[in-house]
Amino acid sequence: MSTTPISQRKPIMRLNNVRRTYVTGEGSLEVLRGANLELRPGEMVGLVGPSGSGKSTLLHTAGLLESPDEGLVEVDGVDAATMSERERTLTRRKKLGFVYQFHHLLPELNAIDNIAAPLMIDGVKRSAARARAQKLLNAMGLSDRATHQPGQLSGGEQQRVAIARSLANHPRVLIADEPTGNLDPTTTTAVFQSLFDTARTEQVAVLVATHNLELTSYMDRVLTLKDGQLAKADL
Ligand SMILES: Nc1ncnc2c1ncn2[C@@H]1O[C@H](COP(=O)(O)OP(=O)(O)OP(=O)(O)O)[C@@H](O)[C@H]1O
Ligand SMILES: [Mg+2]
Repeated sequence: MSTTPISQRKPIMRLNNVRRTYVTGEGSLEVLRGANLELRPGEMVGLVGPSGSGKSTLLHTAGLLESPDEGLVEVDGVDAATMSERERTLTRRKKLGFVYQFHHLLPELNAIDNIAAPLMIDGVKRSAARARAQKLLNAMGLSDRATHQPGQLSGGEQQRVAIARSLANHPRVLIADEPTGNLDPTTTTAVFQSLFDTARTEQVAVLVATHNLELTSYMDRVLTLKDGQLAKADL
């Protein structure tokens, strides 16, 4: 693990003056109005705030799934606005990891293959992909569940497999939208512990939107969206 303090590491993701307005039949809604963010390797950042405040919009923008109307989104020093469609796809695939509230595991594949398959699609040899998958399963406390299919795993176990899958290709930034939204409190704590231990060890920057304020004790910083801008949350 790097001994450089997090605050002195070069940001792996930067958002600068990001604006996003949704235009619908009812009019326009300015969701992001100049949001600024810097994420550094190994840093855990929480994003809290009321429903509709723009958390998912911010995560989609940071994850290059949506483009801002104005402002800079930079991943590993590259301005997303300068990327071709293919470069955006590759950046998403190689540098970003995503975890959602519902995990979207492939039901016909067992746990280890759900994690290894995307790596193999990326050209990693089967043996290396499976070794990486097993290592992540171990880190998530699922060493003995490798051959279980999703239907043979509990909800918390499935979500841990999904997190392992999102970390498999060594992303630099993990973007998680309510990753434990459908889990009970004990499972939630266990899942978060595994996620954060692994992210910390592998120096992944993590941006997590959550309604669960108890999880903020795991974070280095907690932000909220106030009038479309990111600010330190009052907890
Ligand atoms: N594609 C869209 N078109 C129009 N309006 C949208 C669109 N996506 C989101 N919105 C609106 O933008 C606002 C912010 O939505 P967003 O999903 O970012 O909120 P959120 O903070 O993630 O909420 P939650 O906690 O409920 O997940 C909401 O008022 C929503 O209705
Ligand atoms: Mg949301």
